[in-house]
Amino acid sequence: MAYLAGSSCLLSCLLVLFLISVSAVTDEDKQVYIVYMGSLSSRADYMPTSDHMNILQEITGESSMEGRLVRSYKRSFNGFAARLTESERIRVAEMEGVVSVFPNKMLQLQTTTSWDFMGLKEGKRTKRNPTVESDTIIGVIDSGITPESQSFSGKGFGPPPKKWKGVCSGGKNFTCNNKLVGARDYTSEGPRDISGHGTHTASTAAGNAVVDTSFFGIGNGTVRGGVPASRISAYKVCTDTGCSSEALLAAFDDAIADGVDLITISIGFKFASMFEDDPIAIGAFHAMDKGILTVSSAGNSGPNPNTVSHVAPWILTVAASTTNRGFITKVVLGNGKTLVGKSVNAFDMKGKKYPLVYGKSAASSGCSAKTAGLCAPSCLNKSRVKGKILVCDGPSGFKIAKSVGAIAIISKTPRPDVAFTHHLPASGLNAKDMKSLVSYIESEDSPRAAVLKTETIFNQTSPVIASFSSRGPNTIAVDILKPDVTAPGVEILAAFSPDGEPSEDDTRHVKYSVFSGTSMSCPHVAGVAAYVKTFHPKWSPSMIQSAIMTTAWAVKPKGRGIASTEFSYGAGHVDPIAALNPGLVYELEKADHIAFLCGMNYTSKTLKIISGDNVKCSKKNKILPRNLNYPSMSAKLSGSARTFTVTFNRTLTNVGTPNSTYKSKVVAGHGSKLSVKVTPSVLYFKTVNEKQSFTVTVTGRDLDSEIPSSANLIWFDGTHKVRSPIVVYEMVVDES
Ligand SMILES: *[C@@H]1O[C@H](CO)[C@@H](O)[C@H](O)[C@H]1NC(C)=O
Ligand SMILES: *[C@@H]1O[C@H](CO)[C@@H](O)[C@H](O)[C@H]1NC(C)=O
Ligand SMILES: *[C@@H]1O[C@H](CO)[C@@H](O)[C@H](O)[C@H]1NC(C)=O
Ligand SMILES: *[C@@H]1O[C@H](CO)[C@@H](O)[C@H](O)[C@H]1NC(C)=O
Ligand SMILES: *[C@@H]1O[C@H](CO)[C@@H](O)[C@H](O)[C@H]1NC(C)=O
Ligand SMILES: *[C@@H]1O[C@H](CO)[C@@H](O)[C@H](O)[C@H]1NC(C)=O
Ligand SMILES: *[C@@H]1O[C@H](CO)[C@@H](O)[C@H](O)[C@H]1NC(C)=O
Repeated sequence: MAYLAGSSCLLSCLLVLFLISVSAVTDEDKQVYIVYMGSLSSRADYMPTSDHMNILQEITGESSMEGRLVRSYKRSFNGFAARLTESERIRVAEMEGVVSVFPNKMLQLQTTTSWDFMGLKEGKRTKRNPTVESDTIIGVIDSGITPESQSFSGKGFGPPPKKWKGVCSGGKNFTCNNKLVGARDYTSEGPRDISGHGTHTASTAAGNAVVDTSFFGIGNGTVRGGVPASRISAYKVCTDTGCSSEALLAAFDDAIADGVDLITISIGFKFASMFEDDPIAIGAFHAMDKGILTVSSAGNSGPNPNTVSHVAPWILTVAASTTNRGFITKVVLGNGKTLVGKSVNAFDMKGKKYPLVYGKSAASSGCSAKTAGLCAPSCLNKSRVKGKILVCDGPSGFKIAKSVGAIAIISKTPRPDVAFTHHLPASGLNAKDMKSLVSYIESEDSPRAAVLKTETIFNQTSPVIASFSSRGPNTIAVDILKPDVTAPGVEILAAFSPDGEPSEDDTRHVKYSVFSGTSMSCPHVAGVAAYVKTFHPKWSPSMIQSAIMTTAWAVKPKGRGIASTEFSYGAGHVDPIAALNPGLVYELEKADHIAFLCGMNYTSKTLKIISGDNVKCSKKNKILPRNLNYPSMSAKLSGSARTFTVTFNRTLTNVGTPNSTYKSKVVAGHGSKLSVKVTPSVLYFKTVNEKQSFTVTVTGRDLDSEIPSSANLIWFDGTHKVRSPIVVYEMVVDES
């Protein structure tokens, strides 16, 4: 269950919900809850596990904790997961030292040319820092990994760096090596990846370069990760039924303590949740505290607004967009006309034309024309479909075409911007081409067509944000712009598990496969972040995040609607080479995040437990959330006022050259016109690491109520362009 676009998750997601409700009933109304207790106490005599046992004993009144304690978090932060009744849950939430108690839920798991597209060319053409790159370890929290994959071969790697404290707990049939330096399992299936998702994401972030890979010839070339010389440690938290939050927190607890340099996590809820109830926000906070950046996927619930997940400012949140390589699958009709559809079709039917049968005319008795046109399973009369190419008005046909005897399928696709793989010859058409196809079928006595093998095209219209990529605004911290950036996440070829299915009900076994989703864009940015870190090993997570955001290319808006605004791409498209040399960065420390959380109205007591520091949310350290020193600037206005003024306070740190002068420039964006004043408008940095503050005042009137209004602030010294989007919005009308 992945953050794969249009995924096969519909069925399995229902399965997850179903399983949860079943177990809740059979287990005497006990449910697994996560009891989050913030930072670990620094007291030498503090023993987390015995504290967890004591708390459990106290609230349950039982002496045996058999079957109660599911997990203790004790290496990087404090807490536990336990089976509790509703009344026990209420009692434990009131106990001293407990930040939050939330139910264990199931989360969803959300190339060849993509790195070239991003400007990170192969071999000597890219500047590398090999020694540091090889000392960098990427923690991949996902569905496990395929240790035999060439993408993770240890050939040519020396022993892991000394700082590494991880383990390879794979059992007999799972061996790590000097590339795959660690593996842990939280699912009781073993760390082997049987779905393929974790193998795909890990190889995209840091896989070796492997030549001559393809999906049955499609997308052929060299597959590689962003930092091929880096090491990988895999943390398996997902199975076919999903990824549980209690496992996920355990993976963070270990990954941080094991000594990973960066965490990539392509998993999420469908929508954002409150920070204290969100295992990824919690895990990533403690990772940030230890200098580890967490990169996560924005989610696949687009293009509707308010769908972005992973919205905490200490997470780098990634949207998905296209590259200049696209896959198309042509359909040639009996009359010679060609329709250009989308799919990843490796089946070669040699151009032979077969009879077409439209779902509507293959209907069993008792089905409405509409249902039959959509190819609802019970509606198709097998004897009318057998040996023909089935034509459907909706994607459900892709699933069942083969089982009703069709030789291939052509269907209208709700996502004409993405090529999906199917277990039979298939092509997905947009609405217009579907119409031509239907009118051809209806005008012919014996309509026929051929579905060709997929071709690779060069598409200049890129990058375009994928329709599935989740959109802002941020529903939790409304003044923090999310997603942060976009990266390639459409039609990505990467390593796969031979045990997995390249598409639903697919019996083919492959070592490399094509997938789309924010699951695929996230490890690209993790690779970029690792690449930046190899040149700046001492940089904090916020410095790396800032470098990636302020050097991103401005994505050109297309059309109206929030789909083509900062709510879909944040600061823009990542540029790994530019990110090495950002000139200036917006730095954030733990104390800044605490001040932000004070401003979000978290109490001092809660924040003290989370941070482990003696926190007081006083006037002095409490900031308006929009004044967090974030690399983008965003404010939600309360509406009604015709004219408005908003200010943002920011501080820049010079990481470029001494004696540099930056001038500010404002470039208009879209929506209502914003007047932007920057004070001071020129910043002079005498030395490296020097900090300078400035204020941005945005005024305007009659704010557009359908799309956010934006501008760009650019600090320029003649060499470095430090760009931040400024986004002001009132409300967003749901486009669905
Ligand atoms: C070990 O794993 C490999 C790769 O998946 C598999 O082919 C083999 O059957 C496994 N052997 C055992 C003993 O489980
Ligand atoms: C992929 O295969 C085609 C056909 O064999 C060939 O023309 C092309 O050069 C190959 N591309 C790469 C990147 O290897
Ligand atoms: C299925 O189609 C065949 C052939 O057209 C027809 O004889 C049969 O009655 C149909 N069955 C149903 C259930 O519609
Ligand atoms: C190129 O990409 C754009 C944007 O995703 C898409 O609309 C267009 O159909 C693509 N062109 C082809 C020939 O596939
Ligand atoms: C925090 O509380 C203050 C005072 O009640 C309120 O004005 C403000 O909007 C709240 N902030 C957030 C982020 O909820
Ligand atoms: C923002 O900056 C201005 C000018 O430096 C200063 O007067 C103001 O107090 C700052 N506001 C906050 C909330 O830091
Ligand atoms: C600083 O830069 C200015 C303008 O580029 C130059 O004239 C001056 O000599 C520089 N000063 C130092 C100390 O490098």
